[in-house]
Amino acid sequence: MAGNIFGQLFRLSTFGESHGPAIGGVIDGCPPGIELNFNAIQNELNRRRPGQSAIVTQRKEPDEVQFLSGIFEGKTTGAPIGFIVPNTNQKSDDYSHIKDVYRPSHADYTYDKKYGTRDYRGGGRSSARETISRVVGGAIAKQVIPNITINAFTSSVGDIFIDKPYQALDFSLIESNAVRCPDAATAARMEDYIKQIRKEGDTVGGTVTCVIQNVPVGLGEPVFDKLHAELGKAMLSINAVKGFEYGSGFCGAKMKGSEHNDLFNTDGTTKSNLSGGIQGGISNGMDIYFRVAFKPVATIMQTQTTIDSNGNEVEMQGRGRHDPCVVPRAVPIVEAMAALVLTDYYLLAK
Ligand SMILES: Cc1cc2nc3c(=O)[nH]c(=O)nc-3n(C[C@H](O)[C@H](O)[C@H](O)COP(=O)(O)O)c2cc1C
Repeated sequence: MAGNIFGQLFRLSTFGESHGPAIGGVIDGCPPGIELNFNAIQNELNRRRPGQSAIVTQRKEPDEVQFLSGIFEGKTTGAPIGFIVPNTNQKSDDYSHIKDVYRPSHADYTYDKKYGTRDYRGGGRSSARETISRVVGGAIAKQVIPNITINAFTSSVGDIFIDKPYQALDFSLIESNAVRCPDAATAARMEDYIKQIRKEGDTVGGTVTCVIQNVPVGLGEPVFDKLHAELGKAMLSINAVKGFEYGSGFCGAKMKGSEHNDLFNTDGTTKSNLSGGIQGGISNGMDIYFRVAFKPVATIMQTQTTIDSNGNEVEMQGRGRHDPCVVPRAVPIVEAMAALVLTDYYLLAK
């Protein structure tokens, strides 16, 4: 199974399955001498953790990180940073019904066909528990890049969305509600909707918007490793992601050049920023902003027809403790992946 390593200079490899002993990772290429804020790392894990509110999965996992190497007296040494987060709350029986049955729109069928074997417990390697390692890697990455700030938030759930530009939002309110939406009135509607969806045994999708500020001019490696190309790959590698757009995104396709061009100020900044802070694959010093679309996840508590591994049509109903809407928990994952990209490209540009 290739594809478990992300990054060029600041490289994260992740390992572990949902119901194995632990999820973990190795960060290679972290510069030495960085005094790590361990509370900040654990805080990011707490933001991702299940069981944190009434609108996410009710699995109770403490998700405490243990570092194994690469850190001495609180500072990075430059050696590989190994870490694990033990899995402590598995209920593998909850998954016995999918041992030989494929959940529609999950990864069961494709994993089985590709590898000929699959750890069905909790989704195995396809489980979003894998993103724990990304969050640890991203929390360390955030501490490597000076001054750059990364704020992600829930911008829509189903048809409910924030009807304001991000500049009108107060990012300090993102953590003030369970949905991670900085607009209080919209957050309340989103929360009610997610609760209703959960009662119906269904799931709902949504979007996360991410804003990266104080980015120096010059990050990005054309032509294949353009900054937005790497951000796109990072986001599209997150479980359940269906779309990525930056700057004007798909709306830009409806506009004229005379409307879309970002005119310069004499200091090189631009009067508008439909480019989303990146031109020619290189950061231009303006805010980088993008949106990530998450699908309604596959496991619903309703009866659906599917097939078993012998190709027989069968009926199945989701069991276990699942997320009715993954978007609030995806916010720190989006930030983590953005931090991994920015740190990697910051080191590449040095
Ligand atoms: C934070 C987070 C939590 C998730 N929780 C669930 C879940 O409870 N149940 C589920 O079926 N899928 C869940 N998923 C999505 C699956 O991991 C994902 O749909 C699956 O691996 C198939 O991959 P794909 O949707 O990217 O094609 C979650 C995703 C994220 C980002």
